[in-house]
Amino acid sequence: MKAKNCLIFGGSGQIGKNLIRKLTKNNYKVTVVTRNIHQKSYIIKTQANAGYIEIVEANIFDEKKIRELFKKNDICINLIGILYEKKKGNTFKNIHSVFPSLLAKLCKEYNLKHFIHLSALGINNAIDSDYARSKLEGEDRILKNFPLATILRPSLVFSQDDQLTTNFLTLLNRLPLFPLYYDGRTKFAPIHCSDLTDTIHHVISNQIYSKIIECVGPEIITFKELLQRLLKLINKKRILLPFPLPIAKLSATFFEILPKPIITRDQLRLLKYDNIPSGNYKTNSDVGMPSKRFFNDEVKKYCYMWRDGGQFSTEKYNLNNDKENIIS
Ligand SMILES: NC(=O)c1ccc[n+]([C@@H]2O[C@H](COP(=O)([O-])OP(=O)(O)OC[C@H]3O[C@@H](n4cnc5c(N)ncnc54)[C@H](OP(=O)(O)O)[C@@H]3O)[C@@H](O)[C@H]2O)c1
Repeated sequence: MKAKNCLIFGGSGQIGKNLIRKLTKNNYKVTVVTRNIHQKSYIIKTQANAGYIEIVEANIFDEKKIRELFKKNDICINLIGILYEKKKGNTFKNIHSVFPSLLAKLCKEYNLKHFIHLSALGINNAIDSDYARSKLEGEDRILKNFPLATILRPSLVFSQDDQLTTNFLTLLNRLPLFPLYYDGRTKFAPIHCSDLTDTIHHVISNQIYSKIIECVGPEIITFKELLQRLLKLINKKRILLPFPLPIAKLSATFFEILPKPIITRDQLRLLKYDNIPSGNYKTNSDVGMPSKRFFNDEVKKYCYMWRDGGQFSTEKYNLNNDKENIIS
């Protein structure tokens, strides 16, 4: 079978790394565009066997350079997204709307077979969030420029490489109390990264076109329940403290000064809305890819590093039975 050529933007992130492994194992050749080849090539290169991967450094708005890449690819996948705005062009509008619209235009011009774009769940409701509005605007512009595009809207995506469970585990481990926004009632349908990339592979290989697909995990859990589950998995007890909204806003204003804010005011607005299937679009289950991986089962595989004793807290070290094998 002739390998298909996939052009991936944002391949060095959580979803990108997992997707590169999946696609190249299935005989797709990938070209991955990164902003910084010196920093990211090791991360990207090690996801695939030699011959299956090419890495290109580019400014994503350098249309002349990007255009060249479209000439030799069949499929384009856009995984670039930001959670907060930074200075100098790193705005929600540029990253979530202008750039995907450019990709869709080039997909049309170069007659690509498919364009897969990662958006986000719940953006129709979150009308007061700049993040959500920019993602929605991006979707509209893509579908105008390339109606064959398939847009995936994931809920929270988790894995050992995420910035969600791993950050929460670090904070829960270190802080005596943890803030609960909106009393921790917001609902999520977290999807494991591998279930999401299985869906992307399925969409490409089964040529599923012109759809918005909501990608969700097998269970719906609240924000409070998510934190409680993480605490149980690392055997820790912490106070989960409901934060009144004015205090939450004030603390978010302060966090925004940090280079990597823990939460921003825009994220706080987003957190007000449930992040679960809307019922208005097909889900990954509807297109034949129900999620198989449960939150606790997967997080259990990597959370032990936040438990007292680290790897020694796991069953494989079984300290009680094998005391003589451990050098103290
Ligand atoms: N993770 C989730 O829970 C989640 C939930 C819903 C939707 N999504 C969406 O899914 C997509 C992929 O998510 P992810 O978690 O894999 O993303 P990620 O790890 O945060 O980032 C993906 C890649 O995007 C590139 N990138 C980031 N900021 C950029 C900028 N300002 N300009 C140019 N490139 C930039 C980076 O690649 P280089 O550094 O190599 O250039 C980065 O590795 C995003 O669109 C995200 O909004 C994610």
